[in-house]
Amino acid sequence: MKRFVSILLLHFMISFGWADEPPLKNNASISRIAFGSCAHQDRPQPVWNSILKENPELFLFLGDNIYADTPLKEVMRAKYKKLNSLPEFSKFRLKVPLVGTWDDHDYGQNDAGVEFAPKVDAQTELLDFFGVAKDSPRRDRKGVYEAWTFGEGDKCIQVILLDTRYHRSSIKTGPRIPNKGNYLPNTDPEATVLGKEQWNWFETKLKEPASIRIIGSSIQVVSEDHGWEKWMNFPLERERLYKLVRDTNANGVVFLSGDRHLGEISVMDANWGYPVIDITSSGLNQANTTWRREEPNRHRFAAMPWEHNYGMVEVDWNAKNGPIVSMSLKNEEGKTAACYRIPLKNLQFKVPANDGPVSPGAIGPREASKKMGERLNVEFEIASTGQSRDKARIFLNSLSEFRDPANFTIVLQSKAFEDSWKAVGLENYRKVLVGKKIRASGVISEFQGKAQMEIDDPKSVLISE
Ligand SMILES: [Fe+2]
Repeated sequence: MKRFVSILLLHFMISFGWADEPPLKNNASISRIAFGSCAHQDRPQPVWNSILKENPELFLFLGDNIYADTPLKEVMRAKYKKLNSLPEFSKFRLKVPLVGTWDDHDYGQNDAGVEFAPKVDAQTELLDFFGVAKDSPRRDRKGVYEAWTFGEGDKCIQVILLDTRYHRSSIKTGPRIPNKGNYLPNTDPEATVLGKEQWNWFETKLKEPASIRIIGSSIQVVSEDHGWEKWMNFPLERERLYKLVRDTNANGVVFLSGDRHLGEISVMDANWGYPVIDITSSGLNQANTTWRREEPNRHRFAAMPWEHNYGMVEVDWNAKNGPIVSMSLKNEEGKTAACYRIPLKNLQFKVPANDGPVSPGAIGPREASKKMGERLNVEFEIASTGQSRDKARIFLNSLSEFRDPANFTIVLQSKAFEDSWKAVGLENYRKVLVGKKIRASGVISEFQGKAQMEIDDPKSVLISE
């Protein structure tokens, strides 16, 4: 009876627009977001009970939310209805706001892209399922992508859900390799994943202020060694994605993905100054239920190759040394299988301290670090200093944290600068340099993956207030 009442209540709320999407601008900061993908409506979905216990403030459906696999809207609608009728899901839905994008099965056809004509009807069905208002701009868009912002100022989380189906060019196939898929990289410069309009929209969203940007992509972004669906089936498009984040200096980007019937955390470097993180949660009830060997993935940080799963993004805004972002994968019973934790300050481009205005003829460290081997004038405000154990070298850093991959160091040979620091002592000399502007002329080189310039002639350096 209780179950019947909650399902009835859900239908009632959806019909009257009460089970709507969360407001587009929600000023209250949030800190607990759950996500998942691949939920077959014809199978039990006890996982919702565990997700509900997490007290999430939002749930992100990353695609394959139902297994529709049909060009017929009536059939698709009936399958969404079936999902809504599942007791665990209907109870969850009454308590937690849902937003979502699609993948191939709720789009309507396995591994389909731009060529799938019934996508227009499929879009209406998906938007109806999520309770999107009839006058929402999402109704007029070609594709189901959307973005929301939660909180303000330093506690602002942006959620961007991409559509990797509606415009995606045809996929290139090769011979099927057992257990490795059969898709090949499509390097046609005209081939696209997002399509022109969505790329433009995405760029405007990345330019909006936010501390954390959770970007949902139904297909994996970072993993590239398997032959199934992934961004790397379109390598030029993935590079475009990474370049767009670099060019917009978008802070706090974390990718979430689904589709693969496994859980996985992948991390790589794309010259952002902070790691590219992709948390794949796939299989709300569609993952392998017995252990299997992890498939190849050179960027894997942690694997969850079996068990139904969901993901959590949690932000501790009040941690002692600044906010910490935790991303975890959990099984159907809520037990953690994999986790990646990172201070929010390490998900930031370090632009202000090292790329301020420079005088004519000089460039900032960020630009200089892209010009290995070239002789240049580099200028920046000294954020911190250090010295070698034998005191033979003095380090002048563009960032306060010298280990940061975005740090640029000017290395002075102490002996050549002895006259400068002798009167006050080396320690005191280093202290007074912090906050001063340095302009140095020399060759850009690399040390332990970071850019530097070695100077042994005082005439090559100008230090000013
Ligand atoms: Fe899929």
